[in-house]
Amino acid sequence: MKVIVIGATGVIGKEVADAISGQHEVVRVSRNSGDFQADITDKASLEKLFSAAAPFDAVVCCAGGGAFGPLTGLTDQDFDFSLSSKLMGQVNVVRTAMPFIRDGGSITLTSGVLSTQPMPGSAAISLVNCGLEGFARAAALELRDRGVRVNVVSPPWVSETLQMMGQDPSGGMPASEVARAYARLVEDASNGQVISP
Ligand SMILES: NC(=O)c1ccc[n+]([C@@H]2O[C@H](COP(=O)([O-])OP(=O)(O)OC[C@H]3O[C@@H](n4cnc5c(N)ncnc54)[C@H](OP(=O)(O)O)[C@@H]3O)[C@@H](O)[C@H]2O)c1
Repeated sequence: MKVIVIGATGVIGKEVADAISGQHEVVRVSRNSGDFQADITDKASLEKLFSAAAPFDAVVCCAGGGAFGPLTGLTDQDFDFSLSSKLMGQVNVVRTAMPFIRDGGSITLTSGVLSTQPMPGSAAISLVNCGLEGFARAAALELRDRGVRVNVVSPPWVSETLQMMGQDPSGGMPASEVARAYARLVEDASNGQVISP
């Protein structure tokens, strides 16, 4: 299969691309490097990516940011950023990939543990993660006519990320282990699922 991994230079995306590349042709995409550059907040750049890479069998998106901070401190800009990057950015990925992806293909998106296990400071990110999971469940119903599957991985805290944040990495899951959930969704028959590794 030909698999496009967006966010392939990130902590999770790099491990996903590496895990899949043993079995499949992988196109590594990020904003600033990789085989292709694209910005998920910019539909024109996604259309350029997908038209250039077509035909392909799967898209995995491990990209998109959100603002973390106390609700009283979150600004309109923080909400705009979270909604346009992690939520609408990944909605853009699905909508722009649809005309180009092969029938029988799959699209795998990324939410996160804060959708179901919120914490103080996570209001914007929890909002976006829940929205994305709802979107994916509904989109999966419509794309199944073409056999195109839509799923979400909801990663727990990743060990490498906790380490970068100066926290105890043992409270997280190694990115290589999280990546296995993405690889499974590319290859199995799941549709409309939210997977928590
Ligand atoms: N790490 C965790 O503990 C954790 C836990 C739960 C959920 N998640 C979610 O998993 C996703 C990936 O997290 P991560 O820790 O791997 O992030 P990361 O290390 O910061 O990597 C992000 C990747 O996405 C790319 N990217 C960022 N914004 C983009 C955009 N607008 N368009 C295209 N590419 C973009 C980056 O490329 P450039 O470097 O070129 O900008 C990079 O390749 C995020 O949505 C995050 O919320 C992460």
